[in-house]
Amino acid sequence: MAERAAVILAAGQGTRMRSPLPKVLHPVGGRAMLDRAIDAAQALGCEKIVVVAGAHSPEVAAHARARLGPDSVAIQDPPLGTGHAVRAAEGALSGFTGDVLVSYADTPLLDAAAVAPLFEARAEAHLAVLGFVAADPGPYGRLVLEGERLLRIVEAKDASAAELQIAHCNSGVLAAPGPLLFELVAEVRNENAKGEYYLTDVVSLANGRGLRVVAAFAPEARVLGVNSQAELAAAEAVFQQSQRRAALDRGVCMPAPETVMFSWDTELQPGATVEPNVVFGPGVRVETSARIRAFSHLEGCHVAPGAIVGPYARLRPGADIGPDAHIGNFVEVKNVAVGAGAKANHLSYLGDGSVGARANIGAGVIFCNYDGFDKHRTEVGDDAFIGSNTALVAPVKVGAGAYTGSGSVIARNVAPDALALERSAQVEKPGWAARFRAMKAKLRRPV
Ligand code: UD1
Ligand code: CA
Repeated sequence: MAERAAVILAAGQGTRMRSPLPKVLHPVGGRAMLDRAIDAAQALGCEKIVVVAGAHSPEVAAHARARLGPDSVAIQDPPLGTGHAVRAAEGALSGFTGDVLVSYADTPLLDAAAVAPLFEARAEAHLAVLGFVAADPGPYGRLVLEGERLLRIVEAKDASAAELQIAHCNSGVLAAPGPLLFELVAEVRNENAKGEYYLTDVVSLANGRGLRVVAAFAPEARVLGVNSQAELAAAEAVFQQSQRRAALDRGVCMPAPETVMFSWDTELQPGATVEPNVVFGPGVRVETSARIRAFSHLEGCHVAPGAIVGPYARLRPGADIGPDAHIGNFVEVKNVAVGAGAKANHLSYLGDGSVGARANIGAGVIFCNYDGFDKHRTEVGDDAFIGSNTALVAPVKVGAGAYTGSGSVIARNVAPDALALERSAQVEKPGWAARFRAMKAKLRRPV
């Protein structure tokens, strides 16, 4: 296999998004579009990846550097078109003679399988472009084909009425040997409707040199380009649809799949059940026979076999719910390991700590983990019983088998099997209520 590098274009202004967040950092399936483009390039075996970012959005450059290292970013300033953007990457790839894959960071559903035909086509041509047949070609560039040869790409804004009828469109992904690609982009001119240096012009330039240019094709769903919030939502819908389908095919029980939202890395084992209206943020793993009940929100957490979560539960990063444990309605768990068979069924906050096996956390229990500066841990032992409305002021430990009385504020450790009570003695005044009502009735009597 020839050596491969990738140039990912991410320097456009993204003005059609009308958002303060740079376009390519908008997520699909909880993962920034830029990261998805990098994932695809890595899966294709590209050893060197250069992200072209604009000086106008330093967040994009910072994001790429954080993931790929300091030499991974080329700055295009100002952005004068996709062809101009590829030129910005030339220095970073100097001396590289293998194939260069160019892709756009605003094509979030592209994956290695969809690009594979491009490399097959490239093997028997100088330059290969990944196209697709669009249901509604709209603003996409059109492929002017002659048999399997690609003669040129015409942008929609520059196309004649006849060319606009072409359904074969440009995905933006192409492959060519690095030295040839950089020679061709250096020749691109900007005499067109947008006054931009179009990468797509390398096709006619290569044909002008008598080189062989071909198109390979990918399913439209894999190459959707995102330029607006509506197109972002459309890409998200396609992503969600394929995740739901894959989960069902794997044996996840999901009676209303269209109401469940997945992230790119959601891991649901066969035999898990997901009720309607559940949202999975990134980093969730749910094991077999666990049940996620309706209207729950989970991210960065693990749910062991047989556990029941929700309805209306919130699991935040570091929540590790043990086998057969129950997390009920309006219970929030963050960075807490909940032991096997433990229960926290109603209206609680469990943050930073651990709950032992079979422990019972009563309604309204709060782990008071934060003092305004630092977070502290609460450790509840096996078989402990935390009475309703107990405030556990961390750092604090409740020993195995201990009880806390309802309404107690527990700020010191509790020994195993003890009862800790923090409550004033109850006062009772016999007949007080009857006297009170009589007094009120007398005051209201009309004079
Ligand atoms: C582009 C293609 C079009 C194709 C479509 C597929 C060109 C001229 N047109 O159009 O044929 O059908 O994608 O989605 O290439 N970018 C830069 N620097 C720039 C301009 C853009 O890095 O100066 C980046 C953008 O951040 C984006 C990508 O290149 O990730 C594509 O740019 P965009 O303006 O969205 O091109 P389209 O109009 O969608
Ligand atoms: Ca685009």
